[in-house]
Amino acid sequence: MGVELAGLGNGEPSMNPALATPLYVLAGVVGVFFVCRMGILIRHRRRLRGILRNEDQLKYTKISECHAKFKRHVLYAPLFSTRHNRELQLMGRLHMGTIPLRFEAGVLLGYIALNIVFFFCLIDWPADFQEKMFQFKYAAGHLAVMNSPALVLTAGRNNPLIPLLGISFDAFNLLHRWIGRIMAVEAVVHMACVVAGKARLMSMDEITHMMWNETFFIYGLVALIGFVLIFFQAMSALRHAWYETFLHLHILLAVMSFVALWYHLKNLVQQRVLLGTVILWGLERAARAACLLWRNCGKQFTTATVEVLPADVARVDVAMARTWKFKAGQYLYLYIPSLGLWTSHPFSVAWTSTDRADVNEKRSSGDSLNTLIGGPQRHKMSFLIKGRDGFTKKLLKKARKTTGGSLKLTALAEGPFGGLHSLSSYGTVLLIAGGIGITHPISYLHEFVNAFFTPKHSAVRQVSLIWVVRSIDHLTWIQSWMPTLMSHPSLQTSTIPLSIHIYITAPQSTTDEYVTSPNPWAHHAPPNVPVTINWGKPDFTYILENAKMCQVGAMAVSVCGPGAMGDDVRRAVRERQGGTVVDLQHAAYPIPPPTSSSGLGPPIRIEVLTTNTVRTLGYTTVIPTAGNSSLGYYKYQNIRFATVPTGDLRFAKPQWPPVEEAINDGTLVDADVNCASTEDCLYLDIWAPANAHGKKLPVMVWSYGGGFTSGSKSDNTPEGLFALNKEFIFVAYNYRLGITGNANGPRLLHEGGTSNVALYDAQHAFQWVRKYIAAFAGDPNRITAVGFSAGASK
Ligand SMILES: Cc1cc2nc3c(=O)[nH]c(=O)nc-3n(C[C@H](O)[C@H](O)[C@H](O)COP(=O)(O)OP(=O)(O)OC[C@H]3O[C@@H](n4cnc5c(N)ncnc54)[C@H](O)[C@@H]3O)c2cc1C
Ligand SMILES: NC(=O)c1ccc[n+]([C@@H]2O[C@H](COP(=O)([O-])OP(=O)(O)OC[C@H]3O[C@@H](n4cnc5c(N)ncnc54)[C@H](OP(=O)(O)O)[C@@H]3O)[C@@H](O)[C@H]2O)c1
Repeated sequence: MGVELAGLGNGEPSMNPALATPLYVLAGVVGVFFVCRMGILIRHRRRLRGILRNEDQLKYTKISECHAKFKRHVLYAPLFSTRHNRELQLMGRLHMGTIPLRFEAGVLLGYIALNIVFFFCLIDWPADFQEKMFQFKYAAGHLAVMNSPALVLTAGRNNPLIPLLGISFDAFNLLHRWIGRIMAVEAVVHMACVVAGKARLMSMDEITHMMWNETFFIYGLVALIGFVLIFFQAMSALRHAWYETFLHLHILLAVMSFVALWYHLKNLVQQRVLLGTVILWGLERAARAACLLWRNCGKQFTTATVEVLPADVARVDVAMARTWKFKAGQYLYLYIPSLGLWTSHPFSVAWTSTDRADVNEKRSSGDSLNTLIGGPQRHKMSFLIKGRDGFTKKLLKKARKTTGGSLKLTALAEGPFGGLHSLSSYGTVLLIAGGIGITHPISYLHEFVNAFFTPKHSAVRQVSLIWVVRSIDHLTWIQSWMPTLMSHPSLQTSTIPLSIHIYITAPQSTTDEYVTSPNPWAHHAPPNVPVTINWGKPDFTYILENAKMCQVGAMAVSVCGPGAMGDDVRRAVRERQGGTVVDLQHAAYPIPPPTSSSGLGPPIRIEVLTTNTVRTLGYTTVIPTAGNSSLGYYKYQNIRFATVPTGDLRFAKPQWPPVEEAINDGTLVDADVNCASTEDCLYLDIWAPANAHGKKLPVMVWSYGGGFTSGSKSDNTPEGLFALNKEFIFVAYNYRLGITGNANGPRLLHEGGTSNVALYDAQHAFQWVRKYIAAFAGDPNRITAVGFSAGASK
């Protein structure tokens, strides 16, 4: 092709349109992606319509072998074996980034190849050295400028190609980094060719003198230095280690480089391309500013309420000044000026609701009636934010300093972004989350449950949520939303199965720890929503295999969690390609773990629970207070076996206990609670061997003595017996004492009381044992009553 040398009168050649070919090719690729995206959307829409017309989803289950192979080997495939999202680490600390997918790598290689091919094609190879250097210089410099619009476009949050092509910001960001690298290399080649060309004509001193004295060269040099500095400071290790500093320096260097480049290109046609780039940048910044103003300034301003939850997590409820119709999977950028003026961070919207509290607050505030009832209710976007090193750490620190660990702050929210992929046309959906990644699937779950109620909008007929957490008390993160979800009318009657499976990966070796604030919602679930709690990591291959066996319609697997989890799920999905539609939606943007301990207070202490230690009893879930596998037994303490016998229930027969929300770790009352001093005393303790799982062991129930006026379940414990033999379950219970347990007489009976309720307490405790002891590997048909004194005479 050669470089067009016919100049513009200033010694420089005019722009050769052939040099814009990479841009045309890119536009062509974007066009192809757009057509594919439209094709996918149309297919999903047709599928949804078809299913809503006629419930049979079978015909939408099948996939052609060729399509399955394409997904397995191209679309979902990691570049090499299985690694994609797991961060590469050097020396266990330096984050070296992730490996792109095969498809992404193909696009990147294509882009790089395009640049290289055009670079070499444009050179007139037989030309003499000076001419060649000139052409090299021109081609490299020109290509660098031609790449700049794509560089800026792919960096923007408001990149219009994101919704148009359905490609995530994250993927564009990968492209942005590579375009930046290509531009930096082209700038260096440009400079090297200038120097090489001049070196034939002048000495190095003269070249240096010229470079530092002619404004044209100074600007070029400054732009080059800027690009090279960006090349190095944007390296993964530096970027991740000091993200905020990276970001601000990056923007400063970019501004410096573009300003210098602008003057360097003065009077050249390429300046017009740069003008286009600057306009793109300006539009993106203007869109951000406009969005910030629109979303946050209305009759009221946006505010955030922060509440500290276990394990360095904060729940942030943002009352928006202006809201929008939320789509599952969307995220916002949050600014909290009191934590940093210029920083904003992306967080998934986990939950949306209407803030009635604020309205009530207003009503009681004594404002004029118009203000009180005239204003619209405020919509609340809730986030779960995990403390890391920068902004999030500051947020948690600030919240912890307030009394009660809750504070209200002025906030700004920018967005929404994301939510590109609707799952509503799938019959079967598997939502997989790791740790704080739950924010993503919980919004889908909320959407599905609402859609169950109005099934016209969704083909989803089968949903499983699989959530892997480190500790059982992480369930409190979503505790406040679960009752709303579980009591949703669609789940009470629905035949659409939802199942929830929690996996807890607490290490079994830490033995001295306990759950700080357990709060499971497992037993809140309606009967048709099974909730299981499992220990260890899930086997995704097995889970997918099972899901495929009872697949309804097309299946979507959505994963959001640590990189390694994303990779495992990806592998399992790829292995299951073929026969039926299994699509993967990988929402995870892996954030490397903090480089240091967050220093936000003591680390959460977690119970070491083996698969056999948690007992779900229907109305409560209990975990051991003491014991471990090396001792050979566990002690479950203070299990409530009857309702608190006070108020109307004083002098009444014991009643079955109510449902308890929190996991009972034995600390409801003192370990040695006794009925002589506390009326809330109807608890029992159970000692069970550690290896009892799957057995049906005989049960010994101990009734203490004390003349019906003293004594407690804690008087005699079975450690000594266990030292001899552990093939039994030991139970000790409390019964009411003194006047509350043994009151008698016509007046009591006349007023509706029951005589000698202590005996009923004992009877109730035995009934409880028969009902629940199987959960502890006890045999309800082999119960032996053992007692002392009053306990033996009952
Ligand atoms: C789409 C999306 C949704 C997310 N949703 C949640 C969520 O619901 N809950 C949650 O706890 N976390 C979420 N994250 C992660 C969250 O954005 C980061 O944990 C947070 O920005 C870290 O900020 P920091 O300054 O405290 O941490 P730092 O320790 O300073 O940074 C840790 C890492 O976070 C990333 N990061 C930092 N600042 C930004 C930024 N401004 N933009 C993008 N990445 C950044 C960088 O990779 C950095 O290495 C989400 C991330 C993305 C991309
Ligand atoms: N929309 C989004 O893009 C979005 C939203 C929120 C969060 N996130 C991302 O989600 C991630 C979650 O962060 P986190 O710090 O809360 O997670 P974490 O605590 O590191 O891990 C959560 C749980 O996942 C388990 N796990 C790790 N790898 C696994 C694997 N291969 N298979 C099965 N289980 C595995 C962990 O087990 P161990 O105890 O054995 O480690 C742990 O129990 C972050 O990268 C975050 O940025 C993304």
